[in-house]
Amino acid sequence: MTMQNKYRDCLARDLSLSLEGNQVKLSGWVHRIRDHGGVIFIDLRDHTGLSQVVCNPEHADVFSIAERCRSEFVISVEGQVSKRPEGTENVDLHSGAVEVVCSELTIINACLPLPFAVEQHNESDVGEDVRMQYRFLDLRRESMAKALRARSKLLNCVRATLQSQDFLEIETPVLTKASPEGAREYLVPSRVHPGLGFALQQSPQQYKQLLMMGGVDRYYQIARCFRDEDLRRDRQPEFTQIDLEMAFVEQEDVLHVVGDLLKRMIYDVADVTIDDIPRMSWHDAMRLYGSDKPDLRIPLHFVPIDDLCSDCDFKVFKQPAIDEDSRVVTMRIPGGSRLLSRKQIDDYTDFVAKYGAKGLAYVKVNDATSGSMDLQSPIVKFLGQELAEKIVQRAECQSGDLLFFGAGDAKVVNQSMCALRSLIAEDLSLFTCDFAPLWVLDFPMYESDDDGLKAMHHPFTSPATDSIETLKQAPLSLLSKSYDLVLNGCELGSGSIRISDAEMQYAVLELLGMDKAASDKVLGHLIEALRYGAPPHGGFAFGVDRLVMLLVNRPSIRDVIAFPKTQNASCPLTGAPSVLDDAALKELGLRHLKLKPELAN
Ligand code: AMO
Ligand code: AMP
Repeated sequence: MTMQNKYRDCLARDLSLSLEGNQVKLSGWVHRIRDHGGVIFIDLRDHTGLSQVVCNPEHADVFSIAERCRSEFVISVEGQVSKRPEGTENVDLHSGAVEVVCSELTIINACLPLPFAVEQHNESDVGEDVRMQYRFLDLRRESMAKALRARSKLLNCVRATLQSQDFLEIETPVLTKASPEGAREYLVPSRVHPGLGFALQQSPQQYKQLLMMGGVDRYYQIARCFRDEDLRRDRQPEFTQIDLEMAFVEQEDVLHVVGDLLKRMIYDVADVTIDDIPRMSWHDAMRLYGSDKPDLRIPLHFVPIDDLCSDCDFKVFKQPAIDEDSRVVTMRIPGGSRLLSRKQIDDYTDFVAKYGAKGLAYVKVNDATSGSMDLQSPIVKFLGQELAEKIVQRAECQSGDLLFFGAGDAKVVNQSMCALRSLIAEDLSLFTCDFAPLWVLDFPMYESDDDGLKAMHHPFTSPATDSIETLKQAPLSLLSKSYDLVLNGCELGSGSIRISDAEMQYAVLELLGMDKAASDKVLGHLIEALRYGAPPHGGFAFGVDRLVMLLVNRPSIRDVIAFPKTQNASCPLTGAPSVLDDAALKELGLRHLKLKPELAN
């Protein structure tokens, strides 16, 4: 219900023909102002929409105030609701059947000349720094307001759903100890303990596990997390998780609770009903899509052909077909022969080159009829007709299709062909639905790089075995009990069943290069707690910003966070980060080693 006070007794959303003849009071911003031959029309904006206000010259005092109004002035209006004249209704507007004939107009507050037009600005027309510097203006735009409403609705849905399932909302510390979860942390020096400091939590991971050991059965938190990472469109230094953890559960229980929550959130916020969430092993995701977060809205996939090419005469395919770290795949584009021009194929070749691909072989399947196959391609003469036909058959081509090939280092093939898959889907409008969630399961426990083994999820994740011996024997071929939830090609969240045995925790950390002493130093508190009767437990965390971004269809998480940092991790609105005061630093036992000359004064 609209509150009644000296500023307003009505909102734009209340205005309709049912109020015709009534006297109303509205307040808000001047969205647009037009002088139509002596009559001034003001589109008044409040948080619920637009109302048309008419100022007639007969009301000389009102009219002269209206003449002084400019965009984004804050005004208060009183007047009578009247039906708009025939033919001037605005069907796109909730209040579009009526207008308010103004009898009193007050300018509450003026507005300086605007750095960009709030009314109609197109984001690409305005630099992000300017948008962020004047974020309070940017937030007045409907697309931003809509994102904030969606976000609030989503969190409401989370609380209602989880509370009804016996989850307790518990806050855990943000000021905590450095954790080996993988991200670079923000550090906070301690004034009370000179030389010592806290890390800002990168996630509530350790505390939520400790809560399980504290007898909490089901925990959740809308948690702020901090990671000093390189930023991208789906990464912020400060972001929000829906974090949850459950005791006495197996993977299946967590998938059930989280999948159900996702369906409810998509329904509440986007009004879309999702069926059962499909599942795929990490291995299959990499094999068929070259990615651990495939976008299943796109009906294209890789067809591995290493086995077919391992003794062919075409060196470009043969070498990677037999090399363990390489692969050869093809991807069928239905109708591609007709849909893709030579120029487009050349552009795609340049595109995959950016990912390191050395070329982009293709075959146009003019006629797929077995026995009289007609294939058009620069590589058929190298492959031979017989092998080419086998490949066409394996890819289940029909006449008119086109095959693209990626061959070489597996990482390059995966990244280049996966990116090509998305680009072709955009170019040919191949997306089959709005939302395609997917569970990716059975991740490897470890991956290796030049520095040795790395945990694929985080080091609290349980391996798929209870045997420490099995873990140590072949860590790289061992799977873990972890799972990712993917939506439209974006990693929405991840989780795992945790290690609840202290010896297993030591063993997992040891393979990461931390001996017992090193583990105790960093994680002694958690490992000790595991020895005092730890229940089996597991959980999950959603990235709220990414989820809202996808649900309101925005290109960046910066568009769904009220006050985000820019791509270089700063805030043009407040000027943060700013030079730290010498006196404050002194109190913390710190001093500037070197300050850029332009900052030092
Ligand atoms: P993870 O590190 O995968 O798991 O994070 C979970 C989800 O949080 C989101 N996210 C981010 N969103 C915006 N900006 C960032 N910099 C950023 N980093 C992560 C992603 C991601 O999927 N404690 C574990 C979860 C668990 O095991 O329960 C964790 O934090 O959507
Ligand atoms: P080349 O023998 O390098 O002239 O390549 C013959 C064809 O194979 C051309 O169509 C190239 O685009 C393609 N090609 C070359 N290298 C690769 C690769 N690594 N993956 C896929 N196609 C390739």
